[in-house]
Amino acid sequence: MIEKRKEEHINICATKQVQAKYNYWEDLILIHQALPELNMPEIDLEISLFNKKLQAPIIISGITGGYSKAKKINSNLASAASELQIGLGLGSQRPMLERSKYIDSYKVVKDFDVPLVIGNLGAPQLVSQNKKDKPLTLANCKSAMEAIGADILAIHMNFVQEIIQPEGDVNAYGCLDRIKELASELPILAKETGAGISKQMAIDLKSAGVKGIDVGGVSGTSFAAVETYRGKAIGDVTRVKLGKLFWDWGIPTPVSLFEANVGLPLIGTGGIWSGLDAAKALCLGASAAGMARRLLEPAMKSTKAVIGELEQIIEELRCALFLMGTKNASEVKRKQVIITGRTKEILDSLRYDL
Ligand SMILES: Cc1cc2nc3c(=O)[nH]c(=O)nc-3n(C[C@H](O)[C@H](O)[C@H](O)COP(=O)(O)O)c2cc1C
Repeated sequence: MIEKRKEEHINICATKQVQAKYNYWEDLILIHQALPELNMPEIDLEISLFNKKLQAPIIISGITGGYSKAKKINSNLASAASELQIGLGLGSQRPMLERSKYIDSYKVVKDFDVPLVIGNLGAPQLVSQNKKDKPLTLANCKSAMEAIGADILAIHMNFVQEIIQPEGDVNAYGCLDRIKELASELPILAKETGAGISKQMAIDLKSAGVKGIDVGGVSGTSFAAVETYRGKAIGDVTRVKLGKLFWDWGIPTPVSLFEANVGLPLIGTGGIWSGLDAAKALCLGASAAGMARRLLEPAMKSTKAVIGELEQIIEELRCALFLMGTKNASEVKRKQVIITGRTKEILDSLRYDL
């Protein structure tokens, strides 16, 4: 059941239009320095995140695991992350906890020297869903991390998807308490999957003890969109209607980077497509930019294809930093970007002093 769903997600995201309808990154304009006073080869993209050194502020966001073809995808992504020394997140590890035969599709990352490996389990599975599955335990989380040599465990929050998918887990009581309990024992990254993090949510997550927040906001992959296509395939009219209605639900990624700025490392994920988008995320306070959908098709092809795309994105980021007159990725500042359009309107109404 889960493995079928995982494969459907990959196939839908690779072949259908699953993007949010509005790209909030296009509201942002990086400020050009006509005389950057830099020699471009000196640009230093290295950052430190969760005490790990990355050669560029890029994270491959969690995509998959838990079905036969996932091993190849994760191997291609892990090999590229190792070659370029950037961070790598895995897809939900729930399938491997349920069936040991799926461990291989995740554990393959251990064959590579990836500087930052991020495990992945879901917040809805931390609490009772009145089904026969028991909530995940601390031991489950530890074994998920050990299986892949994870440096930190992402707990993904995906209730937009859960409300739409037919088999959705929609009891959210107690998730924050469980995150708090886990965070007292393990390094936890709180991760949205396309609907963003509000200010209060970020404050609550920080109080719960998480080590970082991946804002996973609106602008890129919409899981409401993904579920619309799954609903269509089974002729489920209610699901299709819900999917269409909630397609763009949530907090835009650039807005969420303001909202979630509560003093923890932030990963700016959701609609990052180029090195320019990554530079914009850094301007808004992200330590690194995360990307999933952008890398899916190359990941289905080969390691070489993933490396090619990532090298292009990293070069774009390097060029952007040069033209912005900034030598180090960790020194990019808020004042280096102008915010226009809908993003400005939303930030104005939230009373941010732009
Ligand atoms: C095919 C696919 C599968 C995904 N599966 C997971 C998952 O298992 N766990 C998770 O935390 N996020 C998952 N995500 C969400 C991504 O990590 C990311 O938050 C989201 O896609 C937004 O980034 P993007 O706009 O670059 O795609 C998945 C994304 C895609 C495209």
